[in-house]
Amino acid sequence: MALEKLVVEGGRRLHGEVVVGGAKNAALPILSATLLADGTCDLGGVPRLRDVDVLARILGVLGLQIERDPLGRVQTRILSEDASTAPYELVSMMRASFCVLGPLLARRGYAKVSLPGGCAIGDRPVDLHLKGLRALGAEIKIEHGYVIARAQRLRGANIYLGGPTGCTVLGTANVMMAACLADGTTVIEHAAVEPEIEDLANFLKAMGASIDGAGSHRITIRGVRRLEGCRYDVIPDRIEAATLMMAAVATGGELLLKNVDPTHLEAVFDKLREAGVSVARNCKTVAVAAAEPLHEVELNTLPYPGFPTDLQAQMMALMCTGTGASVFTDRIFPDRLQHVSEFKRMGARILNVNNTCVVLGGSPLQGAPVMASDLRGGAALVIAGLIAQGQTEVRRVYHIDRGYEDLEGKLRALGAVIRREADELPEKPPAV
Ligand code: EPU
Repeated sequence: MALEKLVVEGGRRLHGEVVVGGAKNAALPILSATLLADGTCDLGGVPRLRDVDVLARILGVLGLQIERDPLGRVQTRILSEDASTAPYELVSMMRASFCVLGPLLARRGYAKVSLPGGCAIGDRPVDLHLKGLRALGAEIKIEHGYVIARAQRLRGANIYLGGPTGCTVLGTANVMMAACLADGTTVIEHAAVEPEIEDLANFLKAMGASIDGAGSHRITIRGVRRLEGCRYDVIPDRIEAATLMMAAVATGGELLLKNVDPTHLEAVFDKLREAGVSVARNCKTVAVAAAEPLHEVELNTLPYPGFPTDLQAQMMALMCTGTGASVFTDRIFPDRLQHVSEFKRMGARILNVNNTCVVLGGSPLQGAPVMASDLRGGAALVIAGLIAQGQTEVRRVYHIDRGYEDLEGKLRALGAVIRREADELPEKPPAV
């Protein structure tokens, strides 16, 4: 893979309008759910992302035909159900692909899916996914790094899916998808309530599934014999929307976002307002404007409707422009802090004690070469580059491309000076 970097000239005030794309974290499970369908699924709002491309490759291996039409809609259709193995080479590139397990098992009675492995944002077990599928009657073994699941026919069950930090988003998705084709009724207790889970449930219902309570902590699924293809539009991406808001506000600018569901962003608005940002919302639009100076905030990430872990790093970049001391604790992924040392290299003053970070505002950031090591941390480094004095080079842009469609294009349209360049690898050191 050719490496690229984003070169950002700091100090430009962002302003203007932007249209938010479809939600990555809704599109990925929805694409996996098309494994359950007889007939063609026709999906709008599937963003053009590296994660979507990787999942499309996995679904291709599993016998699906996936095409994007000239209008940008994605059509999927099953050509063959002979292969039920999702290989390590692809699953290890993206954890969300573990979501093919439930649909494969429910529809084909057999699935072999690589364990996703380690992740830059910390330990991410899949025990709750497996617990839920076992409760539905699946026989599950782990052999040579693969989960091998079998079931003649899944049976509905009462399943408690709470984990050490609360709900599991993709675990709920996996079990809900499998339960759609099980005999009888499944009740998932302590289900995740993220909007992306509700969106997946709405898609499954459009295919003919019987699901009540999605969006609450108790989801009831009555199994049906078959699911049909359907036409569906993915919800807007709340994380992309908030990332762009934070970028604009960090530069002292203002932004009108279109194609947003403001009801998905209450916790974010609350924190931005606490910091002094002005937020005005309408039915499908949001306008934000910067305040000077920003007040300090105390922020804990929590499952929805709490403040999302997927925005912790971007909010931290924003609070580097504040004056007081802001306190950040990620309660979902306590180790999701790789961006902190890179912010420090740009001159940020951040103290960290036991996974809690205190950002001491009031010291201007300076442009520097920095390295993205995960998707959201990468976006946060771009925000830091926008507010820094001088030039910042954000290396390993492929992390950002996993989850943001044309981030630099959208920022450029708002007045940012940012460009993508090939990243030369340092030459091998001479042998000594
Ligand atoms: N957990 C367990 N056991 C499990 C599953 C999860 O203990 O079997 C724990 C995790 O370790 C974590 C917590 O439960 O502490 C929540 O993890 P969850 O399962 O909800 O995360 P996920 O479903 O794997 C999704 C998003 C992530 C997002 C998290 C939390 C997708 C594709 N991914 O991951 O998004 O951070 O929910 O909201 O939906 C991103 O987009 O950058 C991203 C990482």
